[in-house]
Amino acid sequence: MRRVSKTARVRVALTLNGRKLSGEAEPRLLLSDFLRHALGATGTHVGCEHGICGSCTVLIDGVAQRSCLTLAVQAEGREVRTVESLAAPDGTLNPLQQAFRNNHALQCGFCTPGILMSFTDFLARNPHPSEAEIREVLSGHLCRCTGYAGIVEAIKEASSSALVVEKEAKP
Ligand code: FES
Ligand code: FES
Repeated sequence: MRRVSKTARVRVALTLNGRKLSGEAEPRLLLSDFLRHALGATGTHVGCEHGICGSCTVLIDGVAQRSCLTLAVQAEGREVRTVESLAAPDGTLNPLQQAFRNNHALQCGFCTPGILMSFTDFLARNPHPSEAEIREVLSGHLCRCTGYAGIVEAIKEASSSALVVEKEAKP
C-alpha cells in the first residue's frame, strides 16, 4: 500500500468515468469529497458520511463501494465510475435510469445516484434478480421520499430491459 505523510498533500491520479484525472488530497480526505470538490463530480451525494445511507456509492474497479468509507489516496490508479457515467453524452438516460423515471422511483433524488450505482454493479452480476434479492440490496440505501415501492418496480423493469440484454450479448 502507498505510504504518505499525514500532513502532506499528495497527488492522486485515477480514471474517472473513462477520463484520466488527478487532484491534490490530504491523506485523510474522503474519496466522496475528493470526487465532489477536487474533481467536480458532484453527482455523487454525501449524506451520513459513515456508511449507512448509501448515497455516496460509486464503482471502484467495477465494484459498488461507499466513497465516504474510502480515502481518496486509496483510489490511486483505480477506475472510478460515478452516476455521471450512466447517461449517453447527449443526455439520453440508460435503461436503468429510464426505468426509474418510468416508475416514479425518485422524488428529491438525493438517494438516487447511489442506488443507481449499486444496481449497475448488482445487475451486471445478477441480471435477473428476484424481488427479495432486489430488496436485500436496496436495504443498503436510505430513501426518505419514495417508500421504496417505485424503486423496486424500476429495478424489476430494468432487469428485463436492453441494459441486461446488452450485457448478456457480450462475449
Ligand atoms: Fe456514504 Fe452515507 S454518505 S453511506
Ligand atoms: Fe428523496 Fe430518495 S428520492 S431521498
